[in-house]
Amino acid sequence: MARVLVTSPMLEDGLAPLADHELVSWDRSVPLPEAAQDVVAILCLLTDRIDAGALAAPGLKVVANVAVGYDNIDVAAAAARGIPVTNTPGLLDETTADTAFALVLAACRRTTDAEAALRAGEWAGWALDGFLGVDVHGALLGLVGYGRIARAVERRALGFGMRVHHHARHNTGADGYVAMLDDLLVTADVVSLHVPLTPDTQHLIDARRLSLMKPSAVLVNTARGPVLDEVALADALAAGQIFAAGLDVYDGEPAVHPSLLAAPHLTLLPHIGSATRATRVAMVRLAAENIAAVLAGHDPLTPVTV
Ligand code: GLV
Repeated sequence: MARVLVTSPMLEDGLAPLADHELVSWDRSVPLPEAAQDVVAILCLLTDRIDAGALAAPGLKVVANVAVGYDNIDVAAAAARGIPVTNTPGLLDETTADTAFALVLAACRRTTDAEAALRAGEWAGWALDGFLGVDVHGALLGLVGYGRIARAVERRALGFGMRVHHHARHNTGADGYVAMLDDLLVTADVVSLHVPLTPDTQHLIDARRLSLMKPSAVLVNTARGPVLDEVALADALAAGQIFAAGLDVYDGEPAVHPSLLAAPHLTLLPHIGSATRATRVAMVRLAAENIAAVLAGHDPLTPVTV
């Protein structure tokens, strides 16, 4: 029976693959490198920073992240020590695409502003020019990144009568590929971000790129907060440089930059992209299966490649 460090309470059904192992909860008064000293595996969340210190634990054989993104783990340090890192690809695409599309609809149709006014007792009745938004049907959606989640968003968009273009670093060979990100931003009515956070994508959407977008454009981010310069976004919204935005992820979560809280035409969600019970249980289960596989001497099911 091997000891597995579980950093946070997990949805129990998901832990079944580890029934033969000893699960140890992380007592957060103990630093992670110390807590990991006598375990062979770490089952962690995207909110846990797994750095070189934790990865130096002598018996560590695998780190399984309950997330598709893994920017919280020093994968280079893990690779240097021969420790596989795993993530949960493929399970959360549809659920996260639903969240992205909810933000597309909310931002285009200003549902957040409209509901806030109603709740504040400020709704004076139906008005011809009340809470005017922009149409989703007929709009051109620009996907930044074209992985599984982006494609799931594309399927939804086509059902809503949108046209879809995408940009990725390498030519995807698929219809709608745009080689230059700037060209996509100039032409798109709605831009949705679907790239992982890496040194190359940090502030990929900055003040200059926001300035390329149409004044009627909408921006949605369900990827990672730092992919976007949030202060530049707040400025662009306040100046009417773009029409509206929807965010599910933030730089420095759970803190939300005050300029975002004050910005107009902005829908804000607390990182709920994959948050349905079925999807989250499936994610925990896959992470647990990855650990069980490695501890049984097999290859991990869904390793991250550096
Ligand atoms: C959520 O943000 C994830 O990476 O799974």
